[in-house]
Order: sequence, then structure tokens, then C-alpha cells
Amino acid sequence: MAVRGDGMAVSERAPGQILSRELRAQIEGIRVAYPRWQRIVAEIGRCQEWGPLAAEPPCLLLVGPMGAGKSMLVGTYAQEHPAVLTEGGVTHPVVRATIPTPATIKALAIALLAALGDPRAASGTVGSMTYRLTHYFRDCQVELLILDVELLILDEVQHFRDRDNRRVLENASNWLKTLIKETGVACVLVGLQGEAEEVVRLNPQLARLFGAPHALLPFAWEERRPETVREFVAFLTLLEGALPLAERPDLSGLGMARRLHAASGGVMAHLMELLRGATYLALAEGRPTLDREVLGRAFEQRLASVRRGTVNPFRAESRREEAAAAETARGTGVSAGEEPGGGV
Ligand SMILES: Nc1ncnc2c1ncn2[C@@H]1O[C@H](COP(=O)(O)OP(=O)(O)OP(=O)(O)O)[C@@H](O)[C@H]1O
Ligand SMILES: [Mg+2]
Repeated sequence: MAVRGDGMAVSERAPGQILSRELRAQIEGIRVAYPRWQRIVAEIGRCQEWGPLAAEPPCLLLVGPMGAGKSMLVGTYAQEHPAVLTEGGVTHPVVRATIPTPATIKALAIALLAALGDPRAASGTVGSMTYRLTHYFRDCQVELLILDVELLILDEVQHFRDRDNRRVLENASNWLKTLIKETGVACVLVGLQGEAEEVVRLNPQLARLFGAPHALLPFAWEERRPETVREFVAFLTLLEGALPLAERPDLSGLGMARRLHAASGGVMAHLMELLRGATYLALAEGRPTLDREVLGRAFEQRLASVRRGTVNPFRAESRREEAAAAETARGTGVSAGEEPGGGV
């Protein structure tokens, strides 16, 4: 009998039982480092590494649609490079902040100072805040603190566009450009695809620093491009091992993978919402693993309203789907993997 998270045998859990805080934290904290994620993480790592040596600060623009996992990726990166208290002071290799809205220079300066741990982040004029910031980054040593900042990550770059007239707020983006250039700190900007690029493109000096954007897109499922199917299946295989269930679920067989893709549209946020929801249901009901019945209910509870118009793929029974899964399996080399009997 598998024992998980809170020390209880999962399949002995009484139906309707409230899950422990630890178990919920474990489920909420699942992060899958799939190959595309790892490639972007490696690029960010290169920026950080090269920063001190490069003539110009190495910069990277990460874009993607809503819910693609951008914030989680950079958040995880920052967590893996935490501030450390040493004998000499604080080393703070990665500083991460969210661009406020409206993105005034003052609000941005406060957000950055707060991210650096300045206890008086909101005090002073814009000029004195900028002065403090530049010194934190450039001189590294301020009032007994050593802030060894190697990388600045700024999320929600599209906030640099005015919400009403969609114009880019030039003052704020110019201020950021000057900060990056003066301090020479490596920088990662993160934002919504289709908007973030424009913020960078319209400021030629920023554009020169950032180059072509890196995109974190939803998973595709195109049978004519078997690599898309293989990527999604690889992600699901990693996820199967991360869910705290008594029995490893079969998510990565082609039939189930196709359904999971149809349910989520390949969007990470939807996919994880569905799978977390199904895991909670299974654990609360003392089920050892996930099946189509639980996934179907989780889809209705968690996704039906945001995926309006999508037929519940875990309920819909279709022989055509089974035949298509077998057909795809031939093209991709992935097992068709539908559960015995196929239907619910
Ligand atoms: N690698 C991952 N492994 C597991 N879950 C993930 C992963 N990446 C993202 N998620 C899940 O997807 C959800 C959406 O991710 P996130 O908030 O990072 O998206 P985003 O691209 O920043 O969206 P937005 O544009 O709306 O800010 C997260 O809450 C998290 O649950
Ligand atoms: Mg985000």
C-alpha cells in the first residue's frame, strides 16, 4: 500500500475526508520540468552567467499566451536562486518583480526596491529611488549590505501599454532601458504574446538588447507533426509520476492524452486545473488513481465554464476516436494506451 504526503495510505482514505495541508501543498506545488521548459531555463541561466562578462547586458524576452506557464517558469528559476545571508551581507543573485499597473516610473521603482528587500521601498522622490536602485545594482555594496544582483526578472511587460489607448508608456520603458544599461545587469522580461513584443520593439534601444523573443506556447496536437504528440505525451509521463496517488495513473497513453488535450486545448493552466481537481476528487473519495469517470467530473467542475463549447472528452464515447488513436500511434511510435474496454 503506498503511503503519501501526510503519511496516510491513500486508498484507505475515507470518502469525503478533508485532505491535509501538506498534501494540498504538494498537489498545488507540482512543477514539471519538461524539455521545452528546460530549454528556456537554460537560456535564462546563460544570461545570468554571461552578465558579468558581457560588454552589454544579456537580455531575454519570454512571451506566451495566458496560462502558458511563464510566471511559474521564472518564479521557479528565482526560487532556485534565493537570496542568501552571508557573513558579509545579503547575496541576491536573482531579483524578480511584477510590473505594476499603471506602470508609472514611481510604481516600478517601488516594486523593484521592494523586491530587493529595501525596507523603505516607498520612501523618497522618484529621483532618490532611482539613485538607490542604480546603486543597489551597480555598486553591489550599500550600507553594509552586499546585493550581488546578477539577473533581473520583470513579469507582465504588457503593463507598459496604456490600457485605454494601447500606446506604450514611453517614460516607463525608457526608464527601464536606462536602468538596464547603466547597471549592466542581465534582464529577463516576461509578458503576453502579441503585446510584450511591441513594448520592446517600439523602443529601439530595448529592441537591440533583447533580440528575438522566446515563446512558451500551449502544447500542440497535430497528427501530421508527430513530434507535437510526443512532446505532450512526454509531459504527461513526467506528470504521472508527480501526482500523489496510490497507483500511477495512465495519462500518457494516446487515447487518454488525446482527451486531455481536447479538454485543455493544450493550455498548461487548464490542464493542471483539471488534473489537480481530479486528484483532489480521487483522494477525497479514497480512489487509488485517476480514471475517465473522475476526470469527467473534474472537467465539469473546473473547466466547463472556461472551455465552453468543448464536449466533455472523458464522457464522449466515440469509436472514431479509438480508431484515430490507433492511427496516431502508428505515426508517432507512442502506445495507443487506452484503458481496457475503452469507454466509461
Ligand atoms: N511546468 C509546470 N508544471 C506544472 N504546472 C504548471 C507548470 N507551468 C505552469 N503550471 C500551472 O499552470 C498555471 C498557469 O501558469 P502561469 O501562471 O505561470 O501562466 P502564465 O503564462 O504566467 O499566465 P498569465 O499570462 O495569465 O500570467 C499555474 O498555476 C500552474 O498551476
Ligand atoms: Mg503570468
